[in-house]
Amino acid sequence: MQKIVILTGAGISAESGLGTFRAEGGLWAEHRIEDVATPEGFARNPKLVVDFYNARRAQAAEAEPNAGHLALSRLEKDFAGEVVLVTQNVDDLHEKAGSRRVMHMHGALKGALCGRCEHRWEAPLVMAPGDSCPQCTQPAARPDIVWFGEMPYDMEQIYEHLSEADLFVSIGTSGNVYPAAGFVSEARRHGARCMEFNLEPSAVGGLFNDIRIGPATQTLPEWVAEVLAN
Ligand code: APR
Repeated sequence: MQKIVILTGAGISAESGLGTFRAEGGLWAEHRIEDVATPEGFARNPKLVVDFYNARRAQAAEAEPNAGHLALSRLEKDFAGEVVLVTQNVDDLHEKAGSRRVMHMHGALKGALCGRCEHRWEAPLVMAPGDSCPQCTQPAARPDIVWFGEMPYDMEQIYEHLSEADLFVSIGTSGNVYPAAGFVSEARRHGARCMEFNLEPSAVGGLFNDIRIGPATQTLPEWVAEVLAN
């Protein structure tokens, strides 16, 4: 086995105290997606949206990586082949755990993006609606988050990695949001073995060769130890 491509979702950060989206009492139970995670919602009420991500950013800044994140960074460091980590998460817990090769396909809380000229820069801990872009000076700053209806980042590169994967691993994601939910089909089509880690099989669970049920802080360290022992 030469190349492992890993996709993570909110479930890997759950045990670090960051809420998932679709659980009972999760983020999407308390906030409407249309209001806080679409370009139209931002146009209607920028303050609501900026405040929502300010709260997420503050929480993420306090959070510590857990044994699941640490296991993946160990895998990247010690595996003889190549490990590519793609995350839907906007927190930076993979980086805090020491992972170096992380693609944030849904953006990052640490980033700000200009809605006019698309310049990207490091967001302050607290953003305000109407903050200006350091490049074009327009008051068009927004969180660098990929909202529903927008194109995720790095897709071309990600599909290339999936086409080269020997093993595709999906961790802590419910399989409801595309294109990420389609990565398993793509990897399979190119001949990769596919594994899922979750508390329960996801919406696309039927497509995996192997499903490991349990909290990521337990299942991931065990699995990484297995891979590194072989
Ligand atoms: N260990 C492993 N899996 C877990 C754990 C845990 N400790 N806790 C929860 N999970 C699983 C849940 O069973 C669920 O399948 O993590 C998944 C979280 O699913 P969602 O809340 O739907 O999060 P995610 O799949 O990352 O959402 C995808 O939707 O709105 C968005 O853009 C946002 O990136 C996000 C995307």
